Amino acid sequence: MAKFRSGIHFLQIPGPTNVPERVLRAIDRATIDHRGADFAALALATFALLKPVFKTTGPVLVFPASGSGGWEAALVNTLSPGDRVLMVETGQFAAAWAKLATRMGLDVELLPGDWRHGADPDVLGARLADDRAHAIKAIALVHNETSTGVTSRIADVRAAIDRTGHPALFLVDTVSSLASIDYRHDEWKVDVTVGGSQKGLMLPPGLAFNAVSGKALAASRLAGLPRSYWSWDDMLESTRSGGFPYTPATNMLYGLHEALTMLQEEGLPNVFARHARHGEATRRAVRGWGLELVALDPREFSDTVTAVLVPADHDADALRATILERYDMSLGTGLGRWKGRAFRIGHLGSFNDLMLAGTLCGVQMGLDAAGIPHGDGVAAALTYLAASSASPAFAAV
Ligand SMILES: Cc1ncc(COP(=O)(O)O)c(C=O)c1O
Repeated sequence: MAKFRSGIHFLQIPGPTNVPERVLRAIDRATIDHRGADFAALALATFALLKPVFKTTGPVLVFPASGSGGWEAALVNTLSPGDRVLMVETGQFAAAWAKLATRMGLDVELLPGDWRHGADPDVLGARLADDRAHAIKAIALVHNETSTGVTSRIADVRAAIDRTGHPALFLVDTVSSLASIDYRHDEWKVDVTVGGSQKGLMLPPGLAFNAVSGKALAASRLAGLPRSYWSWDDMLESTRSGGFPYTPATNMLYGLHEALTMLQEEGLPNVFARHARHGEATRRAVRGWGLELVALDPREFSDTVTAVLVPADHDADALRATILERYDMSLGTGLGRWKGRAFRIGHLGSFNDLMLAGTLCGVQMGLDAAGIPHGDGVAAALTYLAASSASPAFAAV
């Protein structure tokens, strides 16, 4: 029999994130007829609330899927077999998207990366400038690389693409940045933005999103990759009237509507500021512990996840196991080349100062227990949180 543990479990992996009570209560309702008028009203209201989160006026399609389904939908609706896709190996998720693209029959050009930096706008711009024949049909990037805590500068990449005049489609994964870090689908002329429900949107896993530009829609009419379940055509046709081409995740849509209402009540600028403040406090804690961030460039520090290296003679997974056992907190494991070398602190979604304080205390006590030498990172974080809490001008603290 599983042992009962009193109090709350701290789910500080970088997604799925804590699902707030309001969302849980919204999901906990009777399922309704997805072809009835009540469902259509719910779906249309939800679609309308979704667009501002992507900062788009265009369609946002909702698939009953995990984020990886959103990746596949973005590719199969816009590209043809053998098309070249330019990607950058920023970490585990960029590599996984590249693998999926290869499996779909695309010709992936994966620019190498050190898993400590984001996509470099200058390197991408230079590669596109070289591609005078326009063999590259799409650029596909991960906005926030969840495995490293690195956020690529999508606006700067867009500017670099524009300087070359290259016509490639621009596809961006926002699975771990949407509704947490500022993101502008229309302004940055992104053609497909991929999202997922289980991180900044504060929902359980189970929904994937594609925000779609006019250019992407035009490309979809010519795209030759086979598609059925992921077909935008069927989805667009149905969603216009609040329907779905197949059985939707009805109860997840209740939850999505509630989560979007909560984001609207808090206000997106405040949501971004909250995440920025918690990201900064976490990094101050890491510095205070005397540990090293995986991310190296301050312009790319993630406000949703912080990946922390442990000293070479220690095992990050042993530290995580100690923290789980003693303090009932789950932290993210090191992925790919950071396996055993780094752990990740998720500070996104439904989160506040005291949850962060508890999280950082758990890490610090775990460092003690694991015998990893460290300073007082908690004190550094709390000083920052206290000094910045009353003032919206916290960035100046
Ligand atoms: C940035 C990013 N992209 C894509 C994915 C894949 O999403 P899923 O695991 O929901 O399929 C993840 C999962 O954590 C992610 O963090």
